[in-house]
Amino acid sequence: MFRTRTCGELTLENTEEHVTLSGWVQRVRNMGGMTFVDLRDRYGLTQLVFNMEDQPDLCTKARKLGREYVIQAKGNVKERDNKNPEMYTGAIEIIVDEMNILSTSEVPPFIIDDETDGGEELRMRYRYLDLRRNPLKDALMLRHEMTRATREYFDSKDFTEIETPVLIKSTPEGARDFVVPSRNHRGQFYALPQSPQVFKQLLMISGYDRYYQLVKCFRDEDLRADRQPEFTQIDMEMAFVDREDVLNELEGLTKHLFKNVLNVDITEEAFPRLTYQEAIKTYGTDRPDTRFGMHIHEIKDTVGGKGFKVFDQAEYVGGINLPQCASYTRKQLDGLMEFVQKPQIGAKGLVYLKYNTDGTFKSSVDKFFGEEDFKQWVARFNASPGDLLLILAGNTEQTRYALSELRLEMGRQLGLMDKNDYAPLWVIDFPLMEWDGDEQRYAAMHHPFTAPVDEDIHLLEEQPQNVRAKAYDLVINGIEIGGGSIRIHDADIQEKMFQALGFSKEQANEQFGFLLEAFRYGAPPHGGCAFGFDRWVALFNGSDSIRDVIPFPKNNAGRDLMLNTPSKVHQKQLDELHISINKK
Ligand code: AMO
Repeated sequence: MFRTRTCGELTLENTEEHVTLSGWVQRVRNMGGMTFVDLRDRYGLTQLVFNMEDQPDLCTKARKLGREYVIQAKGNVKERDNKNPEMYTGAIEIIVDEMNILSTSEVPPFIIDDETDGGEELRMRYRYLDLRRNPLKDALMLRHEMTRATREYFDSKDFTEIETPVLIKSTPEGARDFVVPSRNHRGQFYALPQSPQVFKQLLMISGYDRYYQLVKCFRDEDLRADRQPEFTQIDMEMAFVDREDVLNELEGLTKHLFKNVLNVDITEEAFPRLTYQEAIKTYGTDRPDTRFGMHIHEIKDTVGGKGFKVFDQAEYVGGINLPQCASYTRKQLDGLMEFVQKPQIGAKGLVYLKYNTDGTFKSSVDKFFGEEDFKQWVARFNASPGDLLLILAGNTEQTRYALSELRLEMGRQLGLMDKNDYAPLWVIDFPLMEWDGDEQRYAAMHHPFTAPVDEDIHLLEEQPQNVRAKAYDLVINGIEIGGGSIRIHDADIQEKMFQALGFSKEQANEQFGFLLEAFRYGAPPHGGCAFGFDRWVALFNGSDSIRDVIPFPKNNAGRDLMLNTPSKVHQKQLDELHISINKK
């Protein structure tokens, strides 16, 4: 037997037991005639003691142990003189009477401890060592808990987990596909699924009316902290439902995960609904962080004709109110100006209005506006004496974006974003389509299978931009956790939708003939959703990047630094696949 106990379980209750432990050497300390070894496995740490006087050979051997050696130790559990209340096993130690080295280790390239000296790239190259550290281990354990709780919920609600294929034909989810060349079919390719979207819809047509799957998806897109080329979705679909049925089920899952994994109670009222238009107007974004207010207010209608060109020429003027910040110094205001002018925020400048505690005003546009104007502004912003208004102007879309970023920055600076506070909400009534300037055509905002709101169907041909979708996104603390919709289940409307998206009949048939055909054989009304599982785990783990909760992630350039891939393949493989590389 390699071990009778783990390194994370022995307490005073086990005193005088003779145990065998196996694990990794975390640390060796020599103190006079004694040597202490911290032995680690995934369950915890246990202190081993070697006494030079009693067992000189064994103690000498222990002194030669290096970090990360794998050893087996046998001995008696004894109460410690110096107890460590921070550690579960901190009240005991093992007086070792036999020790075997199972495997030696080179000096690891970084310190394997909660705090490490290794940079992220180095740790990704040695991910298997990084995974020995508690922060990563805890993240993987949390991930496992969430997988378990997700399956538990769906299983208890009579959903069936069904696998869908990974070698498929490309589905238009908006990102680029990863493609896989076929050896047997010269010049032809499979695509890896961006999501199981069409399969889950086909499963509804097949009659499996409650489907779910924890599923890998692949998207060839630019990477960010919340995006990986391969990621996991909690994917679900239901038949014979309308939006309320789906949202109810998803709220049930959300509450179940919060309760069972974090022990946080999310109440029924915790899922407010905001239309897309409201979200954009009030927060400047369709994934608002509603842990704090600081709403955006528009004042374009009150600022014209005073000779201030920036406002006069702007399509949009709006801002936020920082409560009790009128005492901000020049330096603080300059800092905010610098923030909004960063290229990724893109504002040209920032106007401030200090509403002093004595009721007077001080503004960067004093030259153009007077007390009467300022009174109007503070009324619009619901500001109180002592508040500071920050105002941006410009093109509507960009300025709203910049305001949303400024709002988040101020939320951070003013400590309004408590990590243990959770604010879930639904964003609903998205536009069905948006204009794609590059392609010069409309593109589906979610995907082309999303159903239009019934009252808006007649606008599909003439005013596609005004058609609302039966789509919904779950947003928690500013993170888009997931999205879904009620689907089109009627071949005619689906064809109309393809038309509005600029597909010719032939193109639609070539790409989706199988789906249009399936709709002709009895398609039930259906709808569903997919949650980004990695994002959800990151949220629960308090991580800023989903890389921290994925066992073997890619870096921001899409590389696996451990495998050193993407990489070249042999010429023979290319030949078999009928592929030649364009050297230019
Ligand atoms: P959507 O494209 O919105 O919807 O994706 C659903 C959720 O998946 C997560 N996600 C990602 N996570 C990590 N890395 C990525 N590259 C990435 N891309 C997306 C997000 C997102 O909200 N088939 C539809 C769902 C449906 O309509 O049922 C779909 O895939 O959290």
